[in-house]
Amino acid sequence: MSPSDRAAAAEPPRDCPLCPRLVAYRRENQLKEPTWFNGPAPSFGDPEARVLIVGLAPGRSGANRTGRPFTGDYAGVLLYGTLIKLGFAEGRYEARPDDGLRLVDCMITNAVRCAPPGNKPEPAEEASCRPFLAARIAALPRLKAIVTLGDVSRRNVLKALGLKGSAAPAGHGQEFDAGPYRLFSSYHCSRLNTNTGRLTPQMFEAVFERVRGHLDPAPAARR
Ligand code: URA
Repeated sequence: MSPSDRAAAAEPPRDCPLCPRLVAYRRENQLKEPTWFNGPAPSFGDPEARVLIVGLAPGRSGANRTGRPFTGDYAGVLLYGTLIKLGFAEGRYEARPDDGLRLVDCMITNAVRCAPPGNKPEPAEEASCRPFLAARIAALPRLKAIVTLGDVSRRNVLKALGLKGSAAPAGHGQEFDAGPYRLFSSYHCSRLNTNTGRLTPQMFEAVFERVRGHLDPAPAARR
């Protein structure tokens, strides 16, 4: 497969028909909110990225509205703020796809590309969307680190890599080597997790600091 075929296989078509329940939800949203994006939110970021961040699925009035992962979602404030702080993004996050924010050495995608009712994809929907995730991973020639946000993301990344969903330990801050990639597990930066204190900004930053250290290890100190 050529690099451009590989990149094309990584993104579902705008009218992807694979999941009947999600297609019905998309149509419902198109009728209620005709000015919204209402489609599979395309991956966003640097095609030469060494880091891929994998979320769960677009929020109905977030990425499903704006068409950019985590944009307009509560979760985007912590995610993009952290990426800017750690040098994985440049510019200002203003919760709109034309805010000029640029990801640096990093790409963001979702395990399931269409908004699911109640933010909960069904296992069959995860399975139908997984080939796009596998293709997304395969289309990044310099990829070294994958950050999984939440359990659904972690399980789907592992399965997309041909492993069991249980192959890597669950839990925030866990790391696991899968072939050429190091997986970094994080709790999802959702409103629920941040409001309850399950995930603090410091805990979230610590994951991306570990990623930075993996990509660009500090030179050994001279004796
Ligand atoms: N928005 C996304 O695009 N993905 C998530 O996982 C949550 C919010």
